[in-house]
Amino acid sequence: MNYVEAANAPLRKNGQIKIYGPEAFEGMRRAGQLAARILDAIAELVKPGITTAAIDDLVYEMTTQAGALSATMMYRGYRYAVCTSINHVVCHGMPSDKPLREGDIVNCDVTVILDGWYGDSSRMYAVGEISRKAERLIEVTYDSMMLGIEAIKPGGHIGDIGAAIQEFVEPQRMSVVRDFCGHGVGRVFHDEPNILHFGTRGEGPKIVPGMIFTVEPMINLGKPHVKVLSDGWTAVTRDRSLTAQFEHSLGVTETGVEIFTLSPKGYHKPPYNIP
Ligand code: MF3
Ligand code: CO
Ligand code: CO
Repeated sequence: MNYVEAANAPLRKNGQIKIYGPEAFEGMRRAGQLAARILDAIAELVKPGITTAAIDDLVYEMTTQAGALSATMMYRGYRYAVCTSINHVVCHGMPSDKPLREGDIVNCDVTVILDGWYGDSSRMYAVGEISRKAERLIEVTYDSMMLGIEAIKPGGHIGDIGAAIQEFVEPQRMSVVRDFCGHGVGRVFHDEPNILHFGTRGEGPKIVPGMIFTVEPMINLGKPHVKVLSDGWTAVTRDRSLTAQFEHSLGVTETGVEIFTLSPKGYHKPPYNIP
């Protein structure tokens, strides 16, 4: 895998890993903070009876209000400003008029484009009281993402991230989804490198300062296998077990990482303490 100054690279995925400078980090900070502010607002909206279409409206409104665009609307035929993935839906769930019910867990995944920069982040939300096993799944998934992020060190390898996640998740009798991965991000939605959420330390591309990518593990209570429904988007667990995901966009610094999509209100890990 080779590396190129982002400023000299074509504005598309071309098999090279882009290395970004300070202006890019500033752009990603602003886009990331908008995505995070929208995810904070969703935390205050989600309760039994709310529809995922209402979440989509909120995301669309806040995105437009900020002078940004939704990266997902019109993306390969997707028509919504957010993915809303409920219970056994792994990712790419589409908003609908069906109300959320007490006990549901839902991932909301928002990607905005602000001044050309893509801010991509997702969190889990509990609808009212949820089961103990759903709470445990959400906690393990969040902690796995943060362990993956903590494994990012200049001089290390992308495989270190997946290894940290897998080694934490599997002993707890949960599984890591293999069919979707994190990705380079910047002025392109899905760029090099792929960030697998399982793997082997020391393998994969070298981690260097200036890389920008997402970490977004999907963790299942059952087997790791998924299938995509006939709508072409909704990915579900094959065994219909509960699944969860969190996602941050981040940049590699000289010493570690800067997370662009941290919650301004401190809604990091459920239960969010909504005032
Ligand atoms: N936000 C997702 C990701 O993390 C991609 C969603 S694409 C969509 O990469 F079309 F389903 F919205
Ligand atoms: Co992503
Ligand atoms: Co996303």
